[in-house]
Amino acid sequence: MEKLKKMAGVTAAQYVKDGMVVGLGTGSTAYFFVEEIGRRMKEEGLKVVGVTTSSQTTAQAEGLGIPLKAVDDIDVIDVTVDGADEVDKNFNGIKGGGGALLMEKIVATPSKEYIWVVDESKMVDKLGAFKLPVEVVQYGADRIFREFEKKGYKPSYRMADGERFVTDMKNYIIDLDLGVIENPVEFGKELKAMVGVVEHGLFNGMVNKVIVAGKDGVKILEAK
Ligand code: 5RP
Repeated sequence: MEKLKKMAGVTAAQYVKDGMVVGLGTGSTAYFFVEEIGRRMKEEGLKVVGVTTSSQTTAQAEGLGIPLKAVDDIDVIDVTVDGADEVDKNFNGIKGGGGALLMEKIVATPSKEYIWVVDESKMVDKLGAFKLPVEVVQYGADRIFREFEKKGYKPSYRMADGERFVTDMKNYIIDLDLGVIENPVEFGKELKAMVGVVEHGLFNGMVNKVIVAGKDGVKILEAK
């Protein structure tokens, strides 16, 4: 699995050219992309500026000596490479397994090219087997939780060390055990309409390319 993740991450780094502003994703697959950017800077003299999607990636990028800018200080990101938890045939996906979905979506939005790096186990017919992360403000979170229960969405709080996990943006994450999401676009709208929901992990139609690493090599899927 590590090998597949590395293959996907290293392949994605080929889309990064000198002088680009690059969105640096979060998670165990995006990790290899960030490492490869660091290697190219050191060994090939590549010059880029990074915009990170989590405190975890910031620490990694700083360790590699990648110069960083805040998302507020750039107009456009040339290319962002990130992982995903599930991807369907319509290029909709679930993200947020690593708890960084809000920053990831904010960085993805001004990106001219948005690429996901995944191993083949992430490719699915329908989204929803992976629990859908929903980022909510702490104030009133239990009310949203109870609303999700009433709707039958089987919510659970994301936990870390026995406490509720708090995101980099100081919010909670509620994971929804939905089984299948028949209409990700409509479901995303429903979640966004709930007061107190900051963002959800459905990234619908945002991605341009999905780099899938599998036993038979790397496939590059392009969205139309
Ligand atoms: C973090 C994410 C990750 O990109 C996603 O969870 C995939 O991670 P991994 O490559 O470790 O499976 O969305 O919030």
